Amino acid sequence: MRFHEVSLSMARARTIAIDGPAASGKSTIAQRVAKALGYLFLDTGVMYRAVTLAAQQAGIDFAAESEVTALARRLQIDVRPASMLDGRLCDVFLDGQDVTWAIRSGPVDAGVSQVAAYAGVRQAMTGLQREIGSRGDVVMVGRDIGTVVLPQADLKVYLDASAEVRARRRAAELAARGQPADLAGILAGLQERDRLDSTRQLAPLRPASDAVVLDTSSLTIEEVVRRVLQLVERNSEASR
Ligand code: CDP
Repeated sequence: MRFHEVSLSMARARTIAIDGPAASGKSTIAQRVAKALGYLFLDTGVMYRAVTLAAQQAGIDFAAESEVTALARRLQIDVRPASMLDGRLCDVFLDGQDVTWAIRSGPVDAGVSQVAAYAGVRQAMTGLQREIGSRGDVVMVGRDIGTVVLPQADLKVYLDASAEVRARRRAAELAARGQPADLAGILAGLQERDRLDSTRQLAPLRPASDAVVLDTSSLTIEEVVRRVLQLVERNSEASR
């Protein structure tokens, strides 16, 4: 390897962790950042959503931890680049079935934080996520990526926004898909999920001590993408 190749490979942030509360824009931002860098985009939230959907479909009570955990261990969850232009950011397959939109249902929204709090479920999902992260060139999104899944990530960003702004963004997403959007109900649902996610014992939602925290309440998607790409650039300069 020639010298300039060595310095280039050292310079670039190869693993980028993006965490934050529900509907903070993480997935949209991360997908665009990944595209700009030619990296893989992995939204880890879809994996917890897929487990929750599978439990619902199997008629398993979300409160039955051992049954939910056993299910999570045997499921085949695949996350692949988007194959359709219907607003999806990636394809999600559950045992071979395309569940990309099914995991966005009301019951999954309401149950996912309970399912994601189980140690065995997290262990199964974290293992898959680390395997993908270890290959590098990835932008991974979730709640615990910078703190637990990829604590050695080259760049950690924590995206936040006020609850009202996040509820409005989620309502607009639903409206764009032709679904009814009750703002007060959405706000209450997001706040409850944030409460469960940030107070759980395992891998709670919080910024890593070395994360850059960005409040996106008054920023457009383009502005946030630009800020994150600037951080990638600064990271490159810092490691030269
Ligand atoms: O898209 P939204 O921000 O509403 O949520 P999501 O990223 O799809 O995550 C859904 C749920 O999965 C979260 O509320 C968490 O309970 C859980 N989750 C988690 O525990 N750890 C992650 N790394 C990602 C998601």
